[in-house]
Amino acid sequence: MDRILALKAVRGTRDTLPEEAEGWSDIEALSRRILQTYHYREIRTPIFEETGLFVRSIGETSDIVTKQMFTFLDRKGRSITLRPEGTAPVVRAYLEHNLQREGSLGKLFYIGPFFRSERPQAGRGRQFHQIGAEAIGSPDPALDVECISVLLHLFRDLELGELEVHLNSVGCKKCQPEYKEVLLQYLRGKIISLCPDCQSRLERNPLRALDCKRERCRSIAGEAPVLMEYLCPSCSQHFKEVQAHLNDLQIPYRLNPHLVRGLDYYTRTAFEVTHPKLGAQNALAAGGRFDNLIEEMGGPSTPAVGFAVGLERIILARGGKLTTPARELIIYLAPAGAEAHRQSVKLLHELRRRGIKSEMDYQKRSLRGQLRLANRFKAKYVAIIGEREVREKVVSLKDMRSSQQEEIALSDVVGVITQKEASDLEPVDLERPPILG
Ligand code: HAM
Repeated sequence: MDRILALKAVRGTRDTLPEEAEGWSDIEALSRRILQTYHYREIRTPIFEETGLFVRSIGETSDIVTKQMFTFLDRKGRSITLRPEGTAPVVRAYLEHNLQREGSLGKLFYIGPFFRSERPQAGRGRQFHQIGAEAIGSPDPALDVECISVLLHLFRDLELGELEVHLNSVGCKKCQPEYKEVLLQYLRGKIISLCPDCQSRLERNPLRALDCKRERCRSIAGEAPVLMEYLCPSCSQHFKEVQAHLNDLQIPYRLNPHLVRGLDYYTRTAFEVTHPKLGAQNALAAGGRFDNLIEEMGGPSTPAVGFAVGLERIILARGGKLTTPARELIIYLAPAGAEAHRQSVKLLHELRRRGIKSEMDYQKRSLRGQLRLANRFKAKYVAIIGEREVREKVVSLKDMRSSQQEEIALSDVVGVITQKEASDLEPVDLERPPILG
């Protein structure tokens, strides 16, 4: 092989380095806590699935299926796809494990990576991360509103500021066909102005033209008849109730009759939450009802609703950076000489087993070098263990904040540090724990 490998992350993917990864974990922890408050339970599904799962659920004519999936054949020639979204896998797992047997609503959430082969740009990656949730088993409009409200709760705690909720109803099996006919009539009249993609899928699914990103198609879509005006009485009633609950909870929203989602499984409520900092990729989160999907995937007729939010977009909305300063180390051991090194290994073992965050020098640095490093690690204490300390079985314990130094017996270090830490504990604000650094 004569080509020199460029050892870089693949285009559209990125590394999350430690100072960022800690912030990510904080967002994930906050999301978990909030979702659990709303009684959702975590589910983890595989990163790849049989391709057919996504083709059937997201839709054969969708951009995701036609252009964006990472699909490959496994060794036995089966078609496999890296999951581009989480709803279909959750429904698959729900049916496979008979979760409906439990009789109650299936309220599930997930956090993890997803894959779409899109043109990378700010807020759009080929590997990206979603926090998503699905509530399976009820048509109640209050659940649609719960999805919006849990999202806004998360965004409030993340201090994302200005947000807009866009709301639409895309109807059901009853009202969609009549609307599709009206839309088709309208689009046929404009066919020469549509892009080749929209032209070719017009007869199979005219709704796709409403979701096309090309400028010309967008202006045609902007003038198209809207589904909201063709809703059947029960969809119309459902939509009214969604709005009534939103009003009751004083959640501002904007009716957006042009909001159609790029995935075929939606019925009735469709929504997006946008943020001004996101520019072209302004959807921070999106979701809606999928009352037919479970039945279409071979299960009993079961209504459901859900949403997903993009983690990278949360970070963009927070200003594009999410760095957390290195977290405080409690004690750093600074040995000098072979015997001190040996004693340090033993002491470190004890400290860590007591849950005390600690580290020692493994690079034979000078005492000055070790103190400098301890400072960088924000160590509260440094235990200096030189030849004399080894002889006398003591350590010189330096308090890095006051620079005061005291000598304590080696065997007392764990106890003394435990005591100092207990008296140092700050009161916890139970109302709103400090999540992000
Ligand atoms: P989606 O609108 O395709 O919906 O994606 C949801 C969110 O994931 C978007 O609003 C965005 O924040 C993020 N996202 C999507 N693609 C990318 C990308 N290439 N790079 C970065 N972020 C991205 C779904 O996936 C549905 N499964 C949501 C849902 C759940 N509906 C019902 N239940």
